[in-house]
Amino acid sequence: MTCQRQSHGFAVGVHLSRLLVLLLAGVPMSLAGAAEDPHSYANISEFRAIHASLDLSADFQTQQLSGYVDLTMTRLDDAATELKLDTRDLAVAKVELQRAPALDLPRTVGEGKADSRSARPIPLKFKLGPVDATLGAPLQITLPAKFDAKTFVVRIQYQTSPGASGLQWLTPAQTAGKQQPYMYSQSQAIHARSWIPLQDTPAVRLTYDAHIRTPPNLLAVMSAENAVDTPRNGDYRFRMPQAIPSYLFALGVGDLTFKAIGPRTGVYAEKVIVDAAAHEFADVESMVIACEQLFGPYRWGRYDMLILPPSYMWGGMENPRLTFLTPTAIAGDRSLVSLIAHELAHSWSGNLVTNASWASIWLNEGFTTYLERRIVEALYGPDRRAMEDVLGLQSVKRDIANFTQRGELQFTKLNVDLRGRDPDDSFSDIPYEKGRLFIGFLESRLGRPKLDAFLRDYFDHFAFQSVNTGDFVSYLETYLLTQPGIHITKAEVDEWMNGTGLPSTAVLPTSNAFVQVDTQRTEWLQGKRSAQQLETAKWSTQQWLNFLDNLPHDLTAARLTELDTTFKLTAATNNEIAHSWLLDAIRAGYAPAWPRLEQFLTTIGRRKLVKDLYEELLKTPDGKARATAIYAKARPLYQVPLAQQLDAMLRQN
Ligand code: BES
Ligand code: ZN
Repeated sequence: MTCQRQSHGFAVGVHLSRLLVLLLAGVPMSLAGAAEDPHSYANISEFRAIHASLDLSADFQTQQLSGYVDLTMTRLDDAATELKLDTRDLAVAKVELQRAPALDLPRTVGEGKADSRSARPIPLKFKLGPVDATLGAPLQITLPAKFDAKTFVVRIQYQTSPGASGLQWLTPAQTAGKQQPYMYSQSQAIHARSWIPLQDTPAVRLTYDAHIRTPPNLLAVMSAENAVDTPRNGDYRFRMPQAIPSYLFALGVGDLTFKAIGPRTGVYAEKVIVDAAAHEFADVESMVIACEQLFGPYRWGRYDMLILPPSYMWGGMENPRLTFLTPTAIAGDRSLVSLIAHELAHSWSGNLVTNASWASIWLNEGFTTYLERRIVEALYGPDRRAMEDVLGLQSVKRDIANFTQRGELQFTKLNVDLRGRDPDDSFSDIPYEKGRLFIGFLESRLGRPKLDAFLRDYFDHFAFQSVNTGDFVSYLETYLLTQPGIHITKAEVDEWMNGTGLPSTAVLPTSNAFVQVDTQRTEWLQGKRSAQQLETAKWSTQQWLNFLDNLPHDLTAARLTELDTTFKLTAATNNEIAHSWLLDAIRAGYAPAWPRLEQFLTTIGRRKLVKDLYEELLKTPDGKARATAIYAKARPLYQVPLAQQLDAMLRQN
């Protein structure tokens, strides 16, 4: 109890001063407050959370987190009497108004003595509103009558559900080491509400601290300060002193060990893979240095990585100070490390300057994809960068073609309307690669030095704030388009933001290394070269991907036999290559790949690698039978939101 009081007092002191800074700066909360977030119930123009203090126990038997969160709230509207938070599948036991010493709680509230130090918490009336399939349920908390405190703390006692969409609970068998269970969170886009009741919108930023209890032999890590030498005793404390949006709240618990890479970088992983991971991602310290030279200081202290089990549905997640990573990127030859360049780059675009709602996700992902490519260029050279740019272009062109075919061209806009949509379902490469092409367009008009200066200024200007597309465009118009000698028109910018497909001003990347691959592929297809005559000895992973991704869709199984005999593609251990090959195999009905396909889909849960394989299978009756049989075995491995998407996909077909 004493302990908790102390941390409380500390926390409140910090937050009040932060609030003061915000208010004195004259840019308090107006920026993000203006726009409503259609994916949150929170009444953020009335109240804003500035700090969360978590106290949670992880129970692997029941697969639940339970405990409480103390939310420090500030009031923006004197007349407001109800606090609305986001939840999903949470069991809320109790809500109380805390009466911590440092708070300016009114003496008139509650019974008993005026000295708030001895006062007990005040129970608050609350109710969970109706459940929406996408948004969850609002938690409506009624504040006491005549309560007008500017800052106050509510304690919410709660428990998560075993099926929480933002948590994954794995049995020992589903881990690398097979001995201990593992759990991890994935809060982006709107899943934080399934493990913490809060204002689950990226428009709100808050600091946090946490007290996490786990079985004593497991280690907990968070998107916060992680002390490298924490004794492993099942009782862990964290502090995140920088204000972050809710989607960056993250927790992982497992049989983890730490291995340092550089002075401020390292990797947490299960013992059996920690060396392979540290070897694979050894360049990360150089990446941080490269990124700092390009875009200004890294402002988050350490940059560590957590290697998740293969069920993780994302490639990576930019949780601050602790990127979460799929183990499927450990290829042995560092060929897939652009993934870390990407998550690291989010330390500037995304974590420092944050999209204020998911409709502006291109501000996170488009800038980040551009930054990622610059890091790749700085470390591995322009040829490698060009290849990754072209693969990205090919992929966004496929997305545009698909949206066009489905009559959903509006989803090819950067400035997209997501009202009434689940952000998970609208996910595509548009914000990534079209966003990246937009920055490339700016570069083509400004030249690199001016673009880099603009990006640095943008990151500084909006550091630790949440912005939407409109804020960005105003900034661009005010600080860039007005400068002498800049030849970019508002109409051109508008076409990028609000037009569909790829704008006429896009500067499309090309790769000489791919031109060579394309020539060889064409000659093989025309019968001018046998598979054995293909000059693949020096091909990089990216060149193989370009070769496989661009094979015609009507190839016969016999033609794939030729490739497989020569290059052993069914046995490929690089997961991206295996994925591209399996897609070709499904299209061609190449039966020798079926055991590998099943093994792939039942051991990997990364959405990018599995979803389109199912999609492709569902196109034929035979494939559908195979998909259904494999899915029955694979489903327990998949993360909750992916399983839900695949359930729907298999049902529809
Ligand atoms: N922030 C994203 C992951 C994400 C996006 C999670 C939307 C939930 C909703 C992360 O930075 C990302 O983009 N990951 C990519 C990796 C990449 C190299 C493009 C992924 O997981 O594939
Ligand atoms: Zn990203």
